[in-house]
Amino acid sequence: MNPTDRRPLIAGLQALAAKTRAVPLRTLFADDAGRVSRFTVEGAGLTLDLSRQRIDPGCLSALLAYAAAVRFDDRRAAMLRGDIVNPTEGRRAWHTALRTPPGPQQPEEVAACLARMTRFALAVREGSWTGERGQRITDVVNIGIGGSHLGPQMACEALERFTDPGLRVHFLSNVDPAAWLNLRERLDPDRTLVIVASKSWKTLETARNMEAALQWLRASGITEAGLAQHLAGVTAAPDLAAASGIGESTLFPFWDWVGGRYSLWSAIGLPVMLAIGPDPFNALLAGAHAMDSHFAQTDAARNLPLMLALTAFWNRLLDPGATEVIAPYCDPLRRLPAYLQQLQMESNGKSVDEQGQALDWKTAAVTWGAPGTDAQHSFFQALHQGTDAHPVEFVLALPERADPQRREEALLANAIAQAQALMLGRSYAQVVAALLAQGVPAAQAERDAAHRVHPGDRPSTTLLIGPLTPHSLGALIAMYEHKTAALAWLWGINPFDQWGVELGKQMAGPIELALAQRRAGGAVTADDPASHAWIERLGGLLAAQDNRQG
Ligand code: F6P
Repeated sequence: MNPTDRRPLIAGLQALAAKTRAVPLRTLFADDAGRVSRFTVEGAGLTLDLSRQRIDPGCLSALLAYAAAVRFDDRRAAMLRGDIVNPTEGRRAWHTALRTPPGPQQPEEVAACLARMTRFALAVREGSWTGERGQRITDVVNIGIGGSHLGPQMACEALERFTDPGLRVHFLSNVDPAAWLNLRERLDPDRTLVIVASKSWKTLETARNMEAALQWLRASGITEAGLAQHLAGVTAAPDLAAASGIGESTLFPFWDWVGGRYSLWSAIGLPVMLAIGPDPFNALLAGAHAMDSHFAQTDAARNLPLMLALTAFWNRLLDPGATEVIAPYCDPLRRLPAYLQQLQMESNGKSVDEQGQALDWKTAAVTWGAPGTDAQHSFFQALHQGTDAHPVEFVLALPERADPQRREEALLANAIAQAQALMLGRSYAQVVAALLAQGVPAAQAERDAAHRVHPGDRPSTTLLIGPLTPHSLGALIAMYEHKTAALAWLWGINPFDQWGVELGKQMAGPIELALAQRRAGGAVTADDPASHAWIERLGGLLAAQDNRQG
């Protein structure tokens, strides 16, 4: 459907949103005794409570009708079938095939690659794969960025409890030399395996960091032939990887139909498999597959990813300035917000539809967040009393076992309390009454009260994943992947390309050259005066530093 046809439908929803905006959340609860169960949906072991969102049965019907009108069912079926759903790159977005269980439905290349990853991971973990000089591998360094970094790092931290303590996994993404220099200090080259992960094998940061790591391995005396024991590659461009020295036996492929930010389940997950072992990695895939089945088969109104997408879509209509806050009340999920930033904002930060026509509605909200309860002692102030209301997604996990200090109760109670405080707030009259009850003189109580008022009526979502395990993590991440795709289809955009990251990359090339020229004392030109001034300033400072250091 093109924007011209979509526009009146969205205008109708905008009009409904304008009316709904005026209805307090408390009223929605007062008007509907069954609200909590009506807006609680379950799937693949996850429980999602949307009752604190500003949505009522009428809005939900309108949103579901809109999803039907934009042919959500067909879009979903096309993606799951492996059709070309990424028209600007002419590609499929078939990441769901990566988690198809073994059997006739599982693509052969996926099965073959998983089998190779498994053999390799077992050999490294058991110590039969050693460094050139026979030392057991104790450290793995994954060099990659964006989708070749954020998913594996998030998963390795989330599943730390399942990792082998004898095998540490590190991540090197930033081209800032400080990142590698700091990491290098903690590594012994004889015991280190470097995985270079890059779908395109053309990413500057990864190529430069690979050079630095190779130089370090060589400088330690590891021979050219022996490098194969210390170096693996994961890529969809095997020819380029082979040309840069990755041997066939440690080259793990994936395919152009796996988008970078959807690639955790492919060989990009190798560091995760090394960290937790093949069986738990398969459980991660199984959890994702369970969510795929839920997404594929469940009615729209009970479909977790679609309901999340409809709510996010609705929130953009209710308040175009609102952002999306992710607050995991589960410390191991501390990197979930960063992971979701790439997933949601790189996928859906678009301004034209799939045919290239300009949109006149908002797309991806800014995604941000941090774990609770830490975040309560920082930006939650603004969430409660700031001038803007930002819907919060509370992500809860059950503890694996009871804590002697019962801290899990404090953690979970705080999550519930934050959602409650955001919704109920505290009025001026309530604050004054509370101050008077504490014995504060009336004049002072009235003076202080305004600062303690919480406006409330701020929406939130609560999601429970059960215990954090490879299976529940797989289901959680797959849920967000499908939410992201569903949201794109509601907006009419392509979630699977990312042209917006290209321009800056292209501009960096000539600027790097100019900086080097200025550093060497040459004259430089630049495409704009501010860039020119910065090249002069930074190039001059680097040159001065070079002179000082002789
Ligand atoms: O620059 C953005 C991006 O293209 C992401 O989409 C991708 O995940 C990342 O770079 C890394 O790309 P590659 O895996 O090809 O090195």
